[in-house]
Amino acid sequence: MLSETTQGARPARGDELELQIDSLAFGGAGVARRDGYVVFVRDAVPGDRVRAIVSKSKRAYAEARTVEVIEPSPERIAARAEHPGAPWQVLPYERQLEIKQAQVDDALRRLGKLTGYAIDPIVGGEQTWRYRNKLEYSFGADASGLLVCGFHVPGRWDEIVGVRDCLLASEAGNAAREEIVAWCRSSGLSAYDRRSGEGILRNLVVREGRRTGQLQVRLITSPTELDRGALIRASSADAVLWTQVDSPAEVTQGGITELLRGSDRLEEELGGMRFRISPEAFFQTNTEMAERLYGIAIELAELHGSERVYDLYCGIGTIALLVAPRAAGVWGLELVPEAIADAIANARVNEIENARFFAGDVRLALRELLGTAGRPDVVIVDPPRAGLSQKIVRRLIETSARRIVYVSCNPTTLAPNAAQLVAAGYKLTRVRPVDMFPQTPHIECVALLERGAGE
Ligand SMILES: C[S@@+](CC[C@H](N)C(=O)[O-])C[C@H]1O[C@@H](n2cnc3c(N)ncnc32)[C@H](O)[C@@H]1O
Repeated sequence: MLSETTQGARPARGDELELQIDSLAFGGAGVARRDGYVVFVRDAVPGDRVRAIVSKSKRAYAEARTVEVIEPSPERIAARAEHPGAPWQVLPYERQLEIKQAQVDDALRRLGKLTGYAIDPIVGGEQTWRYRNKLEYSFGADASGLLVCGFHVPGRWDEIVGVRDCLLASEAGNAAREEIVAWCRSSGLSAYDRRSGEGILRNLVVREGRRTGQLQVRLITSPTELDRGALIRASSADAVLWTQVDSPAEVTQGGITELLRGSDRLEEELGGMRFRISPEAFFQTNTEMAERLYGIAIELAELHGSERVYDLYCGIGTIALLVAPRAAGVWGLELVPEAIADAIANARVNEIENARFFAGDVRLALRELLGTAGRPDVVIVDPPRAGLSQKIVRRLIETSARRIVYVSCNPTTLAPNAAQLVAAGYKLTRVRPVDMFPQTPHIECVALLERGAGE
């Protein structure tokens, strides 16, 4: 039954609405308008007419999920396979790129009120499928009670859809997952049930060095006893790790990790250098496109060899170490100590002698870094999705760097950060989106802010 709510009225949770989708919002939901009232609709693309159930209703907007596409958009193409991690696969890849390019521009103009910058054409993905070097799977049970390993049904914490061939993972990565799942099934292990607290299997993380061919599997369970020898024999991966986590929440970080075979440091090659990556450390999930992204950041940094460069949020030191041969010195700052230990080891392995790395929170440690290292000519920042707080932007302004290269995985947080820098005298000169995540709504871009530019 379709809702009887009057047009423009705020719908109630559970209402079923018939909606025309006219655009896509940041984050990928379809946007429908009912007399100006906005409804964000999951699993819908512009041009669709859908039947959707309201899952959240607020004064300013509602959220809904599609239950039926009544009239498909003429742009729709057939999905290759059901995959909660690839919601944009129903749009041709060229169209995905167009939308991402427009969304970066739109965020800067509308949210940041920024103008006068050049936006370069988005760099499309080299591989549009099977590009991820890391997948985090969850365990659950299907309707017949069979153990499954896959992804959460969107919006459901308690429902897992099993995956046989994850089209974002390599074939080798899929095979590594299937070996573990087969062993779990034959050993009679069951998925952890958050309601009852029964069962032990929580997550499986499969990480792959795309250039080194190394494969690492990490099984995450509740505290338990496992037949370690049998688990090792079941897997042909180079490294097998087992993490026991006590908290009721679904987390793949923390807990107690045991290395059962191989090394816990995965190795990857990028930009002609070799990097080791600890299980706790961040690494870009698309190796090939990370190389392109870093190349753009380095190009925008316009280094001549005499500069002092800061790499804030440096992770395992990828950007800093690729920059080092082109600069006088590089200083990296990162919160996770294991990532900093990797960065220091990575500098040694790649024979880089002019890079220094520090573990610390950028919010607290940037002033100290400024005191120790001296004023930077160029600062590269690559923060998490939440972007920079206003206070961190103020600290950044205090460095009086000539150039700030901002690597962003969220244009909606880049925009206000860039606006604050512009208000302090920087000019946003260039922006280049890069598609690190084909078939998904996620957008990455690199922005250049210059002091005194164009004066
Ligand atoms: C998007 S990643 C970028 C890492 C690195 N530049 C790369 O490309 O691999 C963001 C990094 O910021 C770190 N981080 C998060 N909050 C931080 C903070 N307050 N201070 C310093 N580093 C932080 C994370 O641990 C993560 O390594």
